[in-house]
Amino acid sequence: MKKILAAAAIIAAMLPAAAQAEGSLNLICAADVAVCELLKNRFEKDSGIGVNMVRLSSGETYAKIRAEAANPKTDIWWAGTGDPHLQAAQEGLTLEYKSPLLDQLQDWAKRQAEQSGYRTVGVYAGALGWGYNADLLAQKKLKAPGCWADLADPSFKGEIQMANPNSSGTAYTALASLVQIMGEDKAFEYLAKLNANVSQYTKSGSAPVKAAARGETTVGIVFMHDAVTMTAEGFPVKAVAPCEGTGYEIGSMSIVKGARNLDNAKKFYDWALKPEIQSLMKDAKSFQIPSNKNAELPPQAPRFEDIKLIDYDFKKFGEPATRKALLERWDREIGANAN
Ligand code: G6P
Repeated sequence: MKKILAAAAIIAAMLPAAAQAEGSLNLICAADVAVCELLKNRFEKDSGIGVNMVRLSSGETYAKIRAEAANPKTDIWWAGTGDPHLQAAQEGLTLEYKSPLLDQLQDWAKRQAEQSGYRTVGVYAGALGWGYNADLLAQKKLKAPGCWADLADPSFKGEIQMANPNSSGTAYTALASLVQIMGEDKAFEYLAKLNANVSQYTKSGSAPVKAAARGETTVGIVFMHDAVTMTAEGFPVKAVAPCEGTGYEIGSMSIVKGARNLDNAKKFYDWALKPEIQSLMKDAKSFQIPSNKNAELPPQAPRFEDIKLIDYDFKKFGEPATRKALLERWDREIGANAN
C-alpha cells in the first residue's frame, strides 16, 4: 500500500512539471461561453499548454487590453467582433503576425489581416439581425418584425432587448450598421425611437436572444447565428434578416503586444485557423461562417447570399476616433434616456 501511495505521489509530482514544460497561455475569449470552453479544452489537450481563460465581451476586452498596455496580462484575444480588434491594431496594442495558414482563408478574413498591418485576422463571419420568440409574438398579437422600421413601431414598447455598444461588439456593429444604412443623424433619430421600445441594454451581445428564448422579452437584436443557436436548442425563436439591409461582423483574433507567452500565443493562433478546429464550433451550437475555406460550413449557418448585406466599412468603423465619437453620442442621446 505504501509503495502504491509513493508511486502515486511521484506521478502526481511529475504531472504539473510536464504541463509546466509546455507553459501556459492567457486567453481572452470574446465569443459565447460554450464555444470558448470547447476550444480551451481542445487546445489544452492538443498542445499540453495550460490555458487561463477569461470570457469577456468585445468592448470590454478592448478596454482591458488598453488599460493593461504597460503590463499586459493577456497573450491572445480570440473572437468577438472585428472592429475593436482593428481599433486595438491601430493603437499598436496588438502584434503583427503572419500565420502560415493565411493563404487558406476566405478573402474577407485576409482583408481584415491586410487592413490591420497583420495585427489581426478574421476567424469567422456573421450577419446582424434579430431573433423573436414566435409564441410570445402570437400571444401578444404582434406583427412579425421583418424590417428595422418594424422594431421602432410603438406596438413593440418594452418588447425589445439589445446590448450596450460600449461593452458589446454586437451592439457596436448594430450602431455602425444603422449609421451606414440611414446616415448618422437619421440613425440616431431611429435609435431614439427604438429606445422607447427597449426594456434593457445588456452587457453581452447575445444575452437579448437568450432572454427571448426564455420568454423574458419578445425580440433580441443579435447576430442571426445567435438566434439560430436558440432555435437549435429547441426554443421557439425565429431568426430575421432585416429587409432594409444589415451589417456583419468579421470575428477576429489578435496577439497582444508584450504577450508573456508569445510562442504559445502563436501556437494557439495557427491552431485556431485550422479547418478541423473551426469545424468544431458547430458542436457548441456556434453557427458562424468559418474563415478557413476548408472548414465545414454548418447547414444552420445563415448564408450571406440569402441576406441583404451592406458593404460594411470596416476601415472607418474600425478606427478608434469613429468608435469614440459614436459611443459618446450614443451615451448622450440614447444611453442617458434609457428606460
Ligand atoms: C456572440 C456571437 C459572436 C460575436 C460575439 C460578440 O458570441 O456568437 O459571433 O462575435 O457575440 O460578443 P459581444 O458580447 O461583444 O457583443
